[in-house]
Amino acid sequence: MRYRRFGRTGWDASVLGFGAMRLPYLNEDPAQIDEPEAARMLRRAIDGGVNYIDTAYIYHSGQSEGFVGKVLADGYRERVKVATKYPIWQIEKDSDGERILAEQLARLQVPYIDFYLLHGLNAKEWGRVKEFRVLQWAETALASGLIKHLGFSFHDRLEVFKEIIDGYDNWEFCQIQYNYLDIDYQAGREGLRYAAAKGLPVVVMEPLRGGWLAAPPAPIRALFGAKRRSPADLALQWLWSQPEVTVVLSGMSTFPQVEENLASADQAKVGALTKRELTFIDGVRREALKTGWVPCTGCRYCLPCPSEVDIPTSFEAHNLGLYVTEEKRRARVAKHLESTKAGACTACGECEEKCPQHLEIPKLLARACELLGVARAEPPS
Ligand SMILES: NC(=O)c1ccc[n+]([C@@H]2O[C@H](COP(=O)([O-])OP(=O)(O)OC[C@H]3O[C@@H](n4cnc5c(N)ncnc54)[C@H](OP(=O)(O)O)[C@@H]3O)[C@@H](O)[C@H]2O)c1
Ligand code: SF4
Ligand code: SF4
Repeated sequence: MRYRRFGRTGWDASVLGFGAMRLPYLNEDPAQIDEPEAARMLRRAIDGGVNYIDTAYIYHSGQSEGFVGKVLADGYRERVKVATKYPIWQIEKDSDGERILAEQLARLQVPYIDFYLLHGLNAKEWGRVKEFRVLQWAETALASGLIKHLGFSFHDRLEVFKEIIDGYDNWEFCQIQYNYLDIDYQAGREGLRYAAAKGLPVVVMEPLRGGWLAAPPAPIRALFGAKRRSPADLALQWLWSQPEVTVVLSGMSTFPQVEENLASADQAKVGALTKRELTFIDGVRREALKTGWVPCTGCRYCLPCPSEVDIPTSFEAHNLGLYVTEEKRRARVAKHLESTKAGACTACGECEEKCPQHLEIPKLLARACELLGVARAEPPS
């Protein structure tokens, strides 16, 4: 494992962090974490040198923090720092911070939280941060030692990112979506450099674009041929080759992924990629952006839908439908899309404001139905 200095905290963070948002689960229900397997993975990651664990109040329908707490209680707590997040969009009154933080400390079984993030800031949530005096509350939590360091995670345009960075003097770190497809998306490369220039450590989320970069569709995968590095390794090394990246969070879902990413992290180095590899990545990026795929990362923030549409699975089916031409297989993909209830979307818009990727979900669901010939309910006029 390699380590990088975490800004002014003076602490050295592992370049690979464990994101507890995509743990293995049972019965197709993310709330039912497969605890024995997920614990084996988390412990393996820590034994392999990972010392930054990222969770949130909402992950796995509220079960992720409790799971992390249980695993760490078993002797691992002292070896790691724990990051969790305050769901700004759930705030109804100034005192909610106190209540939610108390619940998080109990779930995590810790007396304090090392890294506390205001979750998923964008222009709207930044407004709520001000309205509900969240920074003032967070400062009292810092002063009383219940949280040690304050930061935020972010999903919006670059200008909003800069406004938030400049809007508070005491941020100690930030978390952004960044990978080689998102160089100019959200905070992007300019945001990464902006934060780093102000001395903030940057924690990267969605480094594999929710898994797409590790397992791209066949025509993109074919570009890799017999490359020395796997698609996942290449995408991770691309991040670590940049000095402004401090920790890369990976939401690993299987034990072999933990092993592969630990091995990648052992090689992490600024400037590790050759000129040829960087040119190859540029080519993959150009081709990937042409495919017409729906860039859903499967984060599930948009759920539940009042019409019970399984939105991320609908987009998975759409993206598969772009490539499957053989009739029988296409019919299977269409059936899969039907089972997600994509056709039942009433365009109520409830999901759209929750989507960190700002996807026009009803339009895209309609596009998926059209692509695969699935009938749709008429949205109310
Ligand atoms: N604050 C926020 O708003 C926010 C938003 C998103 C994420 N996060 C945090 O950031 C963490 C990282 O983001 P992410 O989970 O989206 O990361 P990611 O690395 O982009 O996607 C994770 C997915 O990549 C695949 N994967 C990982 N390693 C692989 C490997 N070696 N080979 C093949 N596939 C591999 C797995 O997909 P399969 O399941 O398909 O195998 C896994 O579920 C999250 O876990 C969460 O802690 C925060
Ligand atoms: S717009 Fe469609 S998919 Fe989104 S919440 Fe409403 S019914 Fe569900
Ligand atoms: S549609 Fe948006 S919120 Fe829903 S899973 Fe995809 S990226 Fe996440």
